[in-house]
Parts: sequence; structure tokens; C-alpha cells
Amino acid sequence: MQRSHYCGKITTNDIGKKVSLMGWADNRRDHGKLIFIDLRDLTGLVQVVCDFERNKEALEIADSVRGEYVLSITGKVQARSEETVNPDLHTGEIEIECETIEVLNPSKTPPFLIEEDIETDENLRLKYRYLDLRRPDMQKNLELRHKVIKSMRDFLDGENFLEIETPILTKSTPEGARDFLVPSRLQENKFYALPQSPQLFKQLLMVSGFDRYFQIARCFRDEDLRADRQPEFTQLDMELSFIEEEELINLVERMIVYVFEKNLDIKMETSFNRLSYSDAISKYGSDAPDLRFGMELVDVSEIVKDSEFKVFKSALEKQGMVKGIVVPGGGDFSRKELDDLTEYVKEFGAKGLAWMILEENGVKSPIAKFFTEEQLNQLTEEMNAKTGDLLLFVADNTSVVNESLSNLRQTLARKLDLIPENKFELCWIVKFPLLEYDPEEKRYKAAHHPFTSPYENDLENYEDEPEKIRAKAYDLVLNGVEIGGGSIRNHRKDVQEKMFEILGINKEEAREKFGFLLEALEYGAPPHGGIAFGLDRLIMLMAGAGSIREVIPFPKTANASCLMTGAPSEVEIKQLKELNISPKTKSKKE
Ligand code: AMO
Ligand code: AMP
Repeated sequence: MQRSHYCGKITTNDIGKKVSLMGWADNRRDHGKLIFIDLRDLTGLVQVVCDFERNKEALEIADSVRGEYVLSITGKVQARSEETVNPDLHTGEIEIECETIEVLNPSKTPPFLIEEDIETDENLRLKYRYLDLRRPDMQKNLELRHKVIKSMRDFLDGENFLEIETPILTKSTPEGARDFLVPSRLQENKFYALPQSPQLFKQLLMVSGFDRYFQIARCFRDEDLRADRQPEFTQLDMELSFIEEEELINLVERMIVYVFEKNLDIKMETSFNRLSYSDAISKYGSDAPDLRFGMELVDVSEIVKDSEFKVFKSALEKQGMVKGIVVPGGGDFSRKELDDLTEYVKEFGAKGLAWMILEENGVKSPIAKFFTEEQLNQLTEEMNAKTGDLLLFVADNTSVVNESLSNLRQTLARKLDLIPENKFELCWIVKFPLLEYDPEEKRYKAAHHPFTSPYENDLENYEDEPEKIRAKAYDLVLNGVEIGGGSIRNHRKDVQEKMFEILGINKEEAREKFGFLLEALEYGAPPHGGIAFGLDRLIMLMAGAGSIREVIPFPKTANASCLMTGAPSEVEIKQLKELNISPKTKSKKE
């Protein structure tokens, strides 16, 4: 019962050959004395014909076959008659005339059909993930994942990178999320942290002289999950010694171009778009802008500051801003559509959405009366609006304006079908601020992570205005999704200590948390920098999938559980005792 061929690989060249196939019964059509079974394996389907006249015994077995039975079939490849050729099927010109058929294993009726594009509740798919992964689209996604990773390894190997593993049970490295902790059995009250990324280890490998490192690294972050976030995810992590920002960007661009060409046969140019963080925020309201379409945001604060519209004026008086966006041809939106858009921006904290329509004979808007003719002309001119366009405005503080309009921009582009399919628009975001002020904790936090190097001039010039210090940090954005981020690091102990000081981490805390790094920096640490890519996100975009769960074999749900295994789950009291953890006593109510 040795397999001779894969189902989907049989071609007209095999006509006349005897083949032995293994796979799953995808579909069975019963015509009484003639039964057709579509046999499926990883490579595709092939039609098997069992004919009572030729082989009574095989027909009887075929009669008992149901969907997803595992079969072993032998038979002869024959051409289909012209009228039965199926042009939609790769093997549509041939079929297998069944000689023997054996049921290797029957199957219960699966909870959903094993086919492409099913519309089944995702929770059911996750519960029976092993069946979901039997579907051709999931198999294609995981095959692409394998190929993308392989092409990265090939490329990096060719560029003299070494693949080196780093520990999973380790000490916490701050990447901005909460740690997953693992209690130590051997050392009471002590914990390992699962790595949020291999950041510190890869820097230490540079101190060791490894020069160019990479790793396909699993990272763990206990954070609130969104569509493009998982509690454990995979990075392509890289670090290089004696490197500056420009050289690193160039190398990464060549790798991305290679990966797209190898896997999708798409030829791209290096020299990707580049935007400074401040330009990205000003034009798109986001540091991960989707550049597949235009519709830039326009700051109209200067034009409207002298208008009579109180909403705009009061926002500006409170150091806020007014920005607008032009919806091409949006002049025919209904009142309901405008109301829906207003409700939409309220999700992001906006208090309203002002609108104007540019008509043949001027601006139509309930708020037009608050503006002079000249102000209206300036507005439409500055925003480059054409007759029939809709102009939308939000007035508020900077972050509300940017967040609501950047989301509105994306939603409108989708609604108006302005996003070209199969287009990959890459963009570097550079010159990030080094720090972000956290109003809740009333202190500065590292915008990327605390090991990122500042521009030296900024560090000297803005000692009293830390928010103006820019970082040698860069993100790579693809179609509005942040697929990677990295930075040049602090290789000098004094600069790293200064950074901890700005972050309000005192010397003792720095020594306790990162002493091993600070010490290593004193033993001849070379200048170095790196980047990490969110592989799940990149592969999701390459596969044209709607969520990273579509390219992760066994993902978790929004509350971080695995519906198939039931993790996280309770454990034996004995296990807890070994770890010196006392089980939480349940209250009487529970
Ligand atoms: P950063 O935290 O930006 O950088 O992560 C790098 C990339 O990883 C992806 N990513 C995620 N993907 C899925 N689920 C998540 N929860 C998740 N979080 C992040 C994103 C992101 O761009 N050590 C630094 C890298 C460096 O400086 O070299 C780091 O981890 O695509
Ligand atoms: P009002 O004067 O509150 O009736 O608002 C008049 C118009 O301005 C309505 O279309 C509101 O949606 C809009 N509006 C209210 N607040 C804002 C705001 N902060 N930014 C933009 N438009 C607003």
C-alpha cells in the first residue's frame, strides 16, 4: 500500500499508469451503479470512478464511504470524456478508474464542511482546528508561511547571518506589555518571565562578536488582544554590529524585495517610501498609514481660527486643532450616511463631525453661515476640493483629531472602494520621538524601548524638553499595518544610564533589572542595531487574509484561550503546592 502519487499532481501525462493514492473522501456522488469519489490530499483533488460493471467489490466499499473517510485507492489514470472535463479542477481532464479501495479509517460527520471560504463561526473552527486546517485555504496559508520563512533564512544566510536561539525561560525585558510569568519550583517566590522579544539577548550576542544574528523567535506579551495581536506571536528578529540606520534599512529592503519576489512573484523596487513620524501624523493621523490611496488630512486651524463657528474656535482656544479630509464625490452622501459617519468618529472620542459639500455655486453646509466667503474659498482651495466633493472636519485635541480622522480615512476608502487590490505599499516611518509622556503614570516612557539610541544632538539640545528628543528608531509599515520595528541601540554605558535616568529608573533599579546588560556594555560593546518583523502580520498581508489567526496554526481567542485544548485551565492542587502557590480559596458565593 505504498503511495505512488499525490492526488493533485496527476496530469494527462500519467494517462494509462496504475497509481496508488491515499487521502480523504471530499465528496461522494452516487449514481447507483456508478459512484464518484473526489479524493483529497494536501495537493488537491482527483476524481475516482467506481463502476459496478467492472468491479462489484470496489463499488460496495465505495457505497459505504462518507465524507472525510480516509481511503487507500489503486486504479488506472484515464482521460475523461470531453463532456465530463472539469476546467475548474487542476486534475479536471483525468480520473482514476478504481481497482481497489480500502477504508483506512472512517470519520464522524465533521461539524463544518471541509472546503474553501466557509462561513462558519470562528469559535467552531478553532475548537476543531485540526479539521479547519484540513481546508485548502488554511493549508495554502501555512505552506506560504513555511516558504516565506524559508526564503528569509536563505536570504539572511547569503548575507552571513547566523541563526541563534535565545532562552524562553528568562528575565523580563520591557517591550511595553505585561509579562507572562512562570513560577520557579526550585527557588521559592522567584519567577521566570517569558520573553516579550529576544531584545537583550541579541544585544549581548553583539557584545560576543556574532556580528549578524537572526532568529525566528516566539514572543509572549500579556496584552489586550486586537485583530492583529496574539499573546504569543512570531518575529523574525535581527541584530547587526557596526551598522548605521541607512545600511540596515537598505539590507531590510533587499530582503523584503527578495521575499515578495520568491513567494508571490511580485517585483518591487528598493527605496521604499519614507516618512518622518511627524509627517505621518500630520498627513495621515497615524504612524502606520495606509499609502495605497490618498485622502490626506489637512490642518485648517489657521484658516478657521477667525471664523464664527464656536465649536472650532473653542477647540483652538484650548490648544487643540481642526483638521479636515476630502471625500471625493462624497457630495451625494445621504443624511443617514453623514449621521453614521458622525457616530463612527465618536468611537474615537470626537464630539461631532462637521461637513461641507462643494457645489457648482458654492459651499453647502449647515455651518457655512459661520464663515466668510473668503474663508470658505481658502478652505476648499487648501484642501484641493472639487465640485461634488464632501469635506469633513473634526475639532478637538490633537490626539482625538488624528485618531478619529485616520480611522475615518480608512473607513471611507473602504466604503468608496478606493483601495486597490493586490497592491503592496511599503513605508518606513523614521525619526520617532524617543519618549512618550504617560499622563496616567505622570512620567516619560520609551516610545520604542529603553535601549534605543537618541540622536546625540537632540539629547544635548533638549535636556529640558525631553519630548523633542528623537530616536534612531524605524518602523516598516505595509498597507497600514506595522510589520516591523527596530532601532540603533545605546552601546555606551553612559548613554544607556542617561536613558534610564530620563525614564525615571533609578540606578539601583537599573542595576537590579538590567545590570547584566550595563555590565556587558563595559566590556567592549560594538555599535549595533536591529529590527524585528511581526511574521504573522507580514504573512497575513501576503496571503490576503483578514486576520493573523488565518496564518497561525493554533491561535488564541480574544480572551487568550485555546478553544481546542481548553488552555488556560485549572491544575492539580499538588502542582500548585510544588510551586509554593496557594490556590485562591473560592468565596462562598462562587
Ligand atoms: P516591537 O515591539 O515593535 O519590537 O515588535 C516587532 C513587531 O512584532 C509585531 N508584534 C506583534 N504581532 C502579533 N501580536 C502581537 N501581540 C505583537 N506585538 C508586536 C509587530 C511589530 O512591528 N525588540 C523590538 C525589536 C527591535 O528593536 O529590534 C520589538 O520587539 O509587527
Ligand atoms: P452643533 O453646533 O453642536 O449642533 O454642531 C454643528 C455641527 O458641528 C454638527 O454637524 C456636529 O456634528 C459638528 N460638530 C460638533 N462638535 C464638533 C467637533 N468637535 N468637531 C467637528 N464637528 C463638530
